Amino acid sequence: MAAQTVASTSTSATTTPVDLGPAAALSCRECGQRFELGPIFACAECFGPLEVAYDLPSGSPEELRKRIEAGPANIWRYAPLLPVPADVADKPNLNPGWTKLVKADNLARELGVTGSLFIKDDSGNPTHSFKDRVVAQALEAARAFGYTTLSCSSTGNLAGAVGAAAARAGLRSCVFIPHDLEQGKVVMAAVYGGELVGIEGNYDDVNRFCSELIGDPLGEGWGFVNVNLRPYYAEGSKTLAYEICEQLGWQLPDQLVVPIASGSQLTKIDKGLQELIKLGLVEDKPYKIFGAQAEGCSPVSTAFKAGHDVVRPQKPNTIAKSLAIGNPADGPYVLDIARRTGGAVEDVNDEQVVDAIKLLARTEGIFAETAGGVTVGVTKKLIEAGVLDPALTTVVLNTGDGLKTLDAVADTSQATAVIRPSLDAFRAAGLAG
Ligand SMILES: Cc1ncc(COP(=O)(O)O)c(C=O)c1O
Ligand SMILES: [Zn+2]
Repeated sequence: MAAQTVASTSTSATTTPVDLGPAAALSCRECGQRFELGPIFACAECFGPLEVAYDLPSGSPEELRKRIEAGPANIWRYAPLLPVPADVADKPNLNPGWTKLVKADNLARELGVTGSLFIKDDSGNPTHSFKDRVVAQALEAARAFGYTTLSCSSTGNLAGAVGAAAARAGLRSCVFIPHDLEQGKVVMAAVYGGELVGIEGNYDDVNRFCSELIGDPLGEGWGFVNVNLRPYYAEGSKTLAYEICEQLGWQLPDQLVVPIASGSQLTKIDKGLQELIKLGLVEDKPYKIFGAQAEGCSPVSTAFKAGHDVVRPQKPNTIAKSLAIGNPADGPYVLDIARRTGGAVEDVNDEQVVDAIKLLARTEGIFAETAGGVTVGVTKKLIEAGVLDPALTTVVLNTGDGLKTLDAVADTSQATAVIRPSLDAFRAAGLAG
C-alpha cells in the first residue's frame, strides 16, 4: 500500500521528496495506518508510535548475503535494510558497528553454561556505546529533512553520540541530560564542542522538556534524534541483530539478553531478527529475548512479573543511570516480545550490577559500563533460577564502556599495594609469584 496520509504531528523542515533508500513509508505500530516519510513520530489517527516500513531487497538470500559480506566493516554493510541513501558510506559520519562478538568461555564456566556464551561488545563503537548505531540513522534523516541542529534527551550515552556525529557532519548540536550524571558521561557529551544542557530533574523530566521544546518556535529546525526522528533512529538497533547473526555464521542465537531503558533497542533487535528470517538470510527457528533492568528502575520487569500489559512509571534510583528511564516508551512492546518469544524480563540490584561488571572484567577482560553489569547480572540470575537454558547458544549485550561509569567500581578496584621502589618492599607485600 502506498503512503496515504501526512500526520499532523509533523515538525517538518522540508516538504521535498526524500531519499532514505529502501524506507518506503512510516507505519503505525497500533493501527497500521501508513504515512509519507517525514519528521513525524506519532500516528495522526490513534497517536500510536510510527516505525519505518520497507521495500526490502528482492533476489536470492545467497546474493544478498554476498552483497552484505562484500560491504564495509561497519553498519553500512546493511544499508539495503536501513532507512539511509545508497551512498551513505561516502558521507561524513562515524561509521559505527561491526563490533566484536566475543566467545566468553571463561564466563561460561563460572556461570555453569554448557552451551556457547557470547558477549556482543558494543563498547567498541566510536563514542563507546551502542548509541552510535541509532544516531547514524537519525543523522541521515536529519540531512534528508534539512535540519541543521541535532538534539536529544539523553541518559548520557546518547548525548555523546549526538555531539560526535554532529561534529563529524558539520551540524550544530544541543543536547539535554539530567544534571547529575557521571563525570565520564558529562565530559564525553561536552568534549565534541556542541551545546550541553543539564536539566534539574531526572531523564523523564528531560524528555518532557524536549517534547515541549519541539512544539515551540525555540525548537524550530531542530532534529531531536529520539523524538521527531525516533522512527529512523530506532532502526539502528536492528544492526545489532544483523551483526550477531552474521558473526554466528548467518544463524539465529537461541537466547539474547538485552538491556532496557526506553525499550527501543530490544524491540528493534526483534524486528531485525524477523527481517533476516523473512529474507531467508537465516534459517527460521525459535529464539528467546530476555530483557534486563536495574532493580532501582524496573518498570518493565515489574509489569512482566505481575503479568500486566501496562507499564506503570517509576522514579529511578540506581547506579545504572544509562538505563534510568522510569516511563519507558516501548515498555508494552517489550512485554509483548518477551512473552511471544518465551523470554522474560528480570532485574538486579546495584550490588549485583557491580559484582557482574567485575565478573565480566575478571573472566573476559571486558570492562562494561553499568548497563553491561545489568545484562551480565541478569544472565547469572536467570541461569540460577533455571529460566535461561545453560545448554543453548546465548548472546549477552554489553552496550557501553566501563570507563564512562568508573564510580561504580572505583571503591573496590584500587591498587593491591603501594610500596617503595625496592625488592625488599615488594617481598614484604607478599605478592611475589
Ligand atoms: C549503554 C546503554 N545501553 C542500553 C540502553 C537502552 O536503550 P533503549 O532506550 O533503546 O532501551 C541505553 C540507553 O540510553 C544505554 O545508554
Ligand atoms: Zn495509528
